[in-house]
Amino acid sequence: MARPTANFVCQQCGATHRKWAGKCDDCGAWNSITEEAASEAAPKGVSGAGGRPVSFVPLQGTEEQQPRITTGISEFDRVCGGGLVAGSALLVGGDPGIGKSTLLLQATAGLANADTQVAYISGEEAVDQIRLRAARLGLAGAPVGLATATSVRDILATLDRPDAPRVVVIDSIQTMYVDTLDSAPGTVAQVRSAAQELIRLAKRRQLTLVLVGHVTKEGAIAGPRVLEHMVDTVLYFEGERGHQFRLLRAVKNRYGPTDEIGVFEMTGTGLAEVSNPSELFLAGHSDNVNGTVVFAGIEGTRPVLVEIQALVTPTALGTARRAVVGWDSARLAMILAVLQSRCGLNLGAADVYLNVAGGLRISEPAADLAVAAALISAHLGQLLPARTVVFGEIGLGGEVRAVGQSEARLKEAEKLGFTTAIVPQAAPRRRGERATESSIATHDMASLHDLFAIFEDAVAAGKTAAV
Ligand code: TYD
Ligand code: MG
Repeated sequence: MARPTANFVCQQCGATHRKWAGKCDDCGAWNSITEEAASEAAPKGVSGAGGRPVSFVPLQGTEEQQPRITTGISEFDRVCGGGLVAGSALLVGGDPGIGKSTLLLQATAGLANADTQVAYISGEEAVDQIRLRAARLGLAGAPVGLATATSVRDILATLDRPDAPRVVVIDSIQTMYVDTLDSAPGTVAQVRSAAQELIRLAKRRQLTLVLVGHVTKEGAIAGPRVLEHMVDTVLYFEGERGHQFRLLRAVKNRYGPTDEIGVFEMTGTGLAEVSNPSELFLAGHSDNVNGTVVFAGIEGTRPVLVEIQALVTPTALGTARRAVVGWDSARLAMILAVLQSRCGLNLGAADVYLNVAGGLRISEPAADLAVAAALISAHLGQLLPARTVVFGEIGLGGEVRAVGQSEARLKEAEKLGFTTAIVPQAAPRRRGERATESSIATHDMASLHDLFAIFEDAVAAGKTAAV
């Protein structure tokens, strides 16, 4: 006799458990397990009897490259890999209130104005609310098909037709429900099967399906993580609620690169594209504050200059504090350890604060050298030479390693008026301080000792910090 299957499902990761527990063993989330209606018993083993043989085909086909449907919002199109693809499913995740509905309303209006048939189906807001927003965004004239619905059956009935809209936005997947399931909308079972049905429709009818998903930390609503493997593209819309900057980041893309970011600014009239993010992240940068260093980074295909700030203060408590915003705290611990054991810079009795200005999150190891420079600068109270950018990876031996795309980083720095760069030795082709193709003077670092030498030169030149 088949035993009933486990019906306690973690709302964060979708793992099923036999009994309720306070913590999910699979993803470590607390208080995320809820009881859901049991699905049918686990399938028995299958044999090949009665199955149809699958035919193999060569890798090379006659299919042409899929045409992209562009929204006209170039930051959005670029993150998608050049536009939307027919027959694909895209998930836009993010915290509630971050601007997902605003972004997608603007994108659908862009599509509609370019004569693509689009439908915007909201399960969260009333038609009047969306109309008000559209009016505020100046998009009320766009021929978007607007509807409010939450039943997947109704949506399928509407869209499963040859003349269905080419692009369909579902805002949000957590409000959708499939009436064959007992569980409430927003639970893993509902979110998963609603998405499955809609994606199947999109593949069959060659529609582009855009799903909005809220990310919740509490686990009250199923996180869109359970959907990540079902869709073709996953974009996360992130940003600090207090900042007006918003980043659209591709974390999975079957039709394009995944490290691309799009930068937007939330204004009174919707999201505005930021085509030169370096200028935005460097707004307010000052050359005369110690502990601040400009890092020449690469986000996706684009160089982005961003300010890294460090603050080192004597610790008031027994244990020193390390607080990091926008970078990996384990990576900071590593840099501090290397500085201590290779260069004798002991910050063990100091609180260390590290911040990436502007709300950006950096994951590149190329930021190591900039972080080390910011820490040394803050510790010594000493400035780097003015108009300097820094990049390079640091190894555990204190050596500075080469990183990719140095020329692109240097060009961007030059464009923004920087004159000097502190770079890994291997990056340029010749040693010593000289002009590269981008006419920026470079200081080549073989190890962290060379970085200290730059600060010593600055001391010798009598440059001390204003703060
Ligand atoms: P919204 O798109 O509703 O967020 P989500 O769908 O991700 O939950 O955005 C809501 C926030 O955006 C809200 O706090 C107000 C702000 N906003 C503006 O600042 N300007 C605007 O023009 C619009 C439409 C929204
Ligand atoms: Mg919304």
